[in-house]
Amino acid sequence: MTAFWSIYVTLLTVGTMVALFWLIFATRKSEVHKNPTEQTMGHAFDGIEEYDNPLPKWWFMLFVGTLVFGAAYLLLYPGLGNFKGLLPGYEDGWTQVNQWQREMDRADELYGPIFAKYAAMPIEEVAKDERALKMGGRLFASNCSVCHGSDAKGSYGFPNLADNSWRWGGEPETIKTTILKGRHGMMPPQGAAIGEDGVRNVAAFVLTRLGGRELPEGSEADIAAGQQIFASTCFACHGADGKGTAAMGAPDLTQPSAFIYGSSFTQLQQTIRYGRSGHMPAQEDFLGNDKAHLLAAYVLKLSQGESK
Ligand code: HEC
Ligand code: HEC
Repeated sequence: MTAFWSIYVTLLTVGTMVALFWLIFATRKSEVHKNPTEQTMGHAFDGIEEYDNPLPKWWFMLFVGTLVFGAAYLLLYPGLGNFKGLLPGYEDGWTQVNQWQREMDRADELYGPIFAKYAAMPIEEVAKDERALKMGGRLFASNCSVCHGSDAKGSYGFPNLADNSWRWGGEPETIKTTILKGRHGMMPPQGAAIGEDGVRNVAAFVLTRLGGRELPEGSEADIAAGQQIFASTCFACHGADGKGTAAMGAPDLTQPSAFIYGSSFTQLQQTIRYGRSGHMPAQEDFLGNDKAHLLAAYVLKLSQGESK
């Protein structure tokens, strides 16, 4: 803000507040009329008249209170032009970012050494530490549960992390890499390449031969033709046996219960026709190594819980 506007804003704000102070005190009426019936405001509406009585005291004090609050606020926080406010501890003036950073720094100071201690241990070991798992659970709740669910069981489009089936691999270090670097699962659309019949046939093959389920009643498909399409088109990513390739996040198609885009005949055809593009955002810049380490241990522990 230029000096002119800074002064302009300051004068306008302070001027308004002074004027308001003056207004509530100057127009204040403290005497209740002895005989109120004679002291009305002089207007009537449907026979109802308004007495000319003073504001109740508590009400008056509320006005004064807001003005005092406003004055104190403008003294402590930035608000008057370029004036940065006098709130102690904020040399450059208070801002939201400033305050957030300060709280983060304080938390890092407090918890940094604990995170660092766990970060120096192997993930498998951390996954056995009660306290570490509690901390991991809290980190999960605030950073991951929006997508993976508070129970980590995932939902449509977001994988279940509490089971033992993995799209990208369940090795402790792999889980950590997933968290730090993020992942992008790219299933290219196949509709144009294999045609509508091809989509239906290969979906039927995935559903029945790989997934061990039945075709819905009334649907027709050439499963043998679907198998051929699978062998020529899909195996490159999902593997000849359909068990997936962790290196590219191509899921195991023999486990329909772990599908994130649905495992009905219709949903499979959607997936195959139009492709899918799941995106796990990288957390490295945001959470850093030590927290990702703790989270990897937490996720590892969740997946082990299920397999027992
Ligand atoms: C270029 C590699 C590639 C090819 C080719 C490919 N897929 Fe995929 N497929 C993937 C990846 C990667 C994913 C995971 C997408 C995601 O996570 O968003 C996937 C996901 C899927 C899913 C969804 C599973 C779920 O979790 O819901 C199905 C079903 C599927 N593929 C079937 C097929 C079939 C059938 C073919 C052949 C017609 C095929 N794919 C060809 C890479 C491929
Ligand atoms: C914006 C939503 C989102 C957030 C937030 C998110 N994830 Fe994910 N995550 C995904 C998606 C989508 C995938 C699946 C990517 C794919 O299609 O392969 C995934 C995949 C994963 C995987 C791989 C699962 C497997 O089967 O290999 C792990 C592990 C994981 N996330 C952990 C986490 C952790 C820990 C956090 C919290 C720091 C987190 N995610 C936050 C969306 C999210």
